[in-house]
Amino acid sequence: MSSTEPAREYDFVVVSNRLPVDRVVAPDGTESWAASPGGLVAALEPVMRAADGAWVGWGGQPDLGLTPFEADGIRMIPVDLTAVDVEYYYEGFSNDTLWPLYHDVISPPSFHREWWESYVDVNRRFARAAASVAAEGATVWVHDYQLQLVPKMLRESRPDLSIGFFNHIPFPPYGIFSQLPWRTQVVEGLLGADVIGFQRVADAGNFSRAVRRLTGHATKSPVIEVAEDDGRTRSVIVRPFPISIDTANFEALARKASVQARAKEIREGLGNPRTIMLGVDRLDYTKGIGHRLKAYGELLAEGALKVEDVTLVQVASPSRERVAAYMALRDEIELTVGRINGDLSTISHQAISYHHHGYPREEMAALYVAADVLLVTALRDGMNLVAKEYVASRFNEDGVLVLSEFAGASDELKKALRINPHDIDGLKARILDAVNMPYREQQSRMRSLRKRVAEFDVQRWSREFLEALAEATRTRRGTGADV
Ligand code: F6P
Repeated sequence: MSSTEPAREYDFVVVSNRLPVDRVVAPDGTESWAASPGGLVAALEPVMRAADGAWVGWGGQPDLGLTPFEADGIRMIPVDLTAVDVEYYYEGFSNDTLWPLYHDVISPPSFHREWWESYVDVNRRFARAAASVAAEGATVWVHDYQLQLVPKMLRESRPDLSIGFFNHIPFPPYGIFSQLPWRTQVVEGLLGADVIGFQRVADAGNFSRAVRRLTGHATKSPVIEVAEDDGRTRSVIVRPFPISIDTANFEALARKASVQARAKEIREGLGNPRTIMLGVDRLDYTKGIGHRLKAYGELLAEGALKVEDVTLVQVASPSRERVAAYMALRDEIELTVGRINGDLSTISHQAISYHHHGYPREEMAALYVAADVLLVTALRDGMNLVAKEYVASRFNEDGVLVLSEFAGASDELKKALRINPHDIDGLKARILDAVNMPYREQQSRMRSLRKRVAEFDVQRWSREFLEALAEATRTRRGTGADV
């Protein structure tokens, strides 16, 4: 890491709440940065290299006092957050106001004015950091709900920039969004972008409706004509760009001999059950883990499934652990797991193998290879990349994906067994269909799922977004609202 370099200007700047690296401190106190797993870095790495790029984001812990550094071949521009910023902007407004509000108020959102003020302040610091490193006319791509005010702030200070925004989570219907006391500021913040991308057609539609209700700007899909203060108009493109994974890379990982061997070991370790079912989620109330456990527990209690034949492996990775709703969820899930295991496991066969950990990518790939059925029962989910990772790992073309219709992925993965997680009887029936599905049907479904995930990978996603952004910017500069 070096802090003495002169300030540089970059042609391509990514802005996201977290930097794409995690800080690792060795027992002797030495600090290093490890690439955090996730498709976004993989997708943007080639663009970053080709375009001389930089990444603006938070180092993941309060008060790190970092200066720009290089990690994994990428220039990192850290934005420092204090402990109060983390509490108000990240845990508070981002994850206890916006997150529940944007996920259908599954948990009640909290509205606090001091959290909003912190959100405005931190967004301004992200915008300043991006503006200070972006070259004249550069492309700046802002990501996700934590940073919705950044596009407008950037446009005000740097009208020369080409500004894109992508929302990784759902955008709620107006009836829900309108609860937000700062709804107009959020919509106006986003409208600073040239292109606003959403996961699903429905999200883009919800946003356009919010724009109509709150601002009066004319909308004709996919264009919103933003009336500027000087009387001119500026076109903003609003479109779905469903995100994906680095499919080829994930499949290559699943094919590795070490991953195959590990998958066998996992199966043996579980007592060689006929069927391994798998759930992989951040421990979040949007994921429907409780609904999944309820359905599975009932199937075991009724004898429709037997613990000698079936094991459910549930990976619940720790998340946002200081937010009250997440603490309550952990207690609830772990109580349920304990009850099901206590009531229904035998000495030699466990009903649920539960893991409150995050695992490295290799271990995840081994779990996907080992699992005969993947259960995705989200009550609301922007996309759900776990579903796509499972499909990418199934190069033998077997295995069954049970997928909630409330996950963005269900728009694309049409040959999955689609479920409504609120309908426990329906969910139970689909779980039985999955467990008993003939091999040929598994193959024909999985082949179609794999075709989709192979064609629409994360590289294509970033290429399509950036092409749309370049086109929108060319049009704007050509017709000149703010050239
Ligand atoms: O897309 C949802 C999201 O909030 C991402 O921004 C983030 O990478 C992921 O979920 C994990 O959340 P957090 O950064 O709060 O741990």
